[in-house]
Amino acid sequence: MISYNEETKIFKLDTQTTSYLMGIADGKYLGHIYYGRKLTAQDLSYLLRTQEKPFVPSKLLREKLSFLDSFPMEFPFGGTGDFRESCIEIRDSNGQSGMELLYAGHRIYEGKEKLRGLPGVWGEGCQTLEIRLEDACAGVRVLLSYSVFADSDAVIRSVKAENIGTHTIYLERILSACLEMDDEDFEMLSLSGAWARERHIQRQPLLTGSFVTESVRGESSHQDHPFLAALSKGCTQTCGEVYAMHFVYSGNFLAKAQRTQFDTLRMVLGIHPERFCWKLEAGAVFQAPEAVLVYSDAGLGKMSRSLHSLYRNHLIRGNEKEKVPPVLINNWEATYFDFHTEKLIAIAKESAALGIEMLVLDDGWFGHRENDDSSLGDWTVNEQKLPGGLKYLADEVNKLGMKFGIWLEPEMVSPDSKLYEKHPDWAFHLKGRTPSRARDQLVLDLSRQEVVDYLYDSISKVLHSANIEYVKWDMNRALSDIGSTAFPPDQQGELSHRYMLAVYEMQERLITEFPDLLLENCSSGGGRFDPGMLYYSPQIWCSDDTDAIERLSIQEGTQLLYPMSTIGAHVSDCPNHAVGRNTPFQTRGITALSGTFGYELDITKISEENGSYNLSKSKA
Ligand code: DGJ
Repeated sequence: MISYNEETKIFKLDTQTTSYLMGIADGKYLGHIYYGRKLTAQDLSYLLRTQEKPFVPSKLLREKLSFLDSFPMEFPFGGTGDFRESCIEIRDSNGQSGMELLYAGHRIYEGKEKLRGLPGVWGEGCQTLEIRLEDACAGVRVLLSYSVFADSDAVIRSVKAENIGTHTIYLERILSACLEMDDEDFEMLSLSGAWARERHIQRQPLLTGSFVTESVRGESSHQDHPFLAALSKGCTQTCGEVYAMHFVYSGNFLAKAQRTQFDTLRMVLGIHPERFCWKLEAGAVFQAPEAVLVYSDAGLGKMSRSLHSLYRNHLIRGNEKEKVPPVLINNWEATYFDFHTEKLIAIAKESAALGIEMLVLDDGWFGHRENDDSSLGDWTVNEQKLPGGLKYLADEVNKLGMKFGIWLEPEMVSPDSKLYEKHPDWAFHLKGRTPSRARDQLVLDLSRQEVVDYLYDSISKVLHSANIEYVKWDMNRALSDIGSTAFPPDQQGELSHRYMLAVYEMQERLITEFPDLLLENCSSGGGRFDPGMLYYSPQIWCSDDTDAIERLSIQEGTQLLYPMSTIGAHVSDCPNHAVGRNTPFQTRGITALSGTFGYELDITKISEENGSYNLSKSKA
């Protein structure tokens, strides 16, 4: 599947129907040659165009800058003559930032190494190519990793940077992947939206200049998606070419396409460089997250199928992924914070009689939380609402033959909470400033291990307290005021990424300790629906907008990249709580059936005649 031709100096990666080629030019520059339909062995080094003119630096030193600014660099670096988007930037001990990364070796091996602390594609039948690039002057080594699976059409890339010098350096940018192409007439496809309007498909021509889709919100976000595709003009579901990049990461990202002065295209994807700066002491290594590349010569449908099968077979983990998920009923839109044990049992009884398989108790079961302005961080049961605690409720629900699950929002703290009273410095804040609240909550400083341990222990205690078989892990605000008292000034730029690593660590611990737990990630609806989260949870709540018509656009965009089995979708009430629209019960059912399927309404109030009711009528 992966080969290297010593004579032509060409690396060739073959997937089921595609080939990806790179070559070494002028003895040292790693260039991108080709990505597309599968090729038989042939010498394609001419595609690097280094022979056309005496253009390589060894033959024409006086024009080295022009070479660097036009060569299709596989992992571009800036500051020495390439003025296009770069993948790496460092600040060295002189405070300077130019680089020149040159080929220094490679290895091809069976399997794929796990990315430390990060989600990633896994599994059997895989080969990996690791290419070593070095900048002796800056004291930096970069390891580019490319994996291909026998049963997949995707190329999986990641990057590691190592300080091989003797001084501390600062990594100011490290993107995970770059694609260089020739065709000038691409359209860009991205997914964008807002809260309750996530992942709408957006297409536009790429003129000379750049197209950017990005998040600096500390989460992959409702607004943009860590994905970008270049489509041949007029590409449809079944025809045309697609070059897609998808990021296996849940935090800040940058996806950018540049159409250059020569009508070539450079597309990059990685951690957003804004407010990112990682201190690399001598000998230290930084591992950047993984990017998935897919090429399709048969339209968007083939791209979707390639991604779906990769994610089903090689990304999602856990015992639950092979099972049909239980049909659940969630009490959020049924009761909001206004519930008690009896009300929940009444919902469960009615649900059990209809064949619903699990009751999920959403927000409001802990601390003194009667609305959304308190108690996050105090993960102890509110016995006034739930006498006998979660145990009593779970047992009663189990007696009805149903499973029981709960909602958690571990990453946050309410200023009105015992936790905040005791540890105000555990919330992210900038020195001398009062942090901005959102939904009356602050973000916990997960760069501190003691915070992570406290949270994990609290969660674990709750899960051991009753027969809890499902957790909805929510996250209801973007990250701001990202400052920590636990790190020195020159490491404050590490916090957003450290935050993500801590979320991953907690979820890893959770599914390791509770291997049969069904985890559903969520972020104010679909604000963190991304491949990173999918590694930990086989399903993700798709949107707080449960209106069947708006959901068609949201789910269409989501299904473009993700299998239907991963898309949290429920039948809710009418008029819809997000948009006020009335839709037939059947329409809501069909829309929810193209996802995980469940209910999110007060089932004790549904009229028998039409399976639908009007809230105002029922109140009267
Ligand atoms: C946002 C989620 O998307 C909703 O489903 C619900 O769980 C609320 N948070 C609870 O606060």
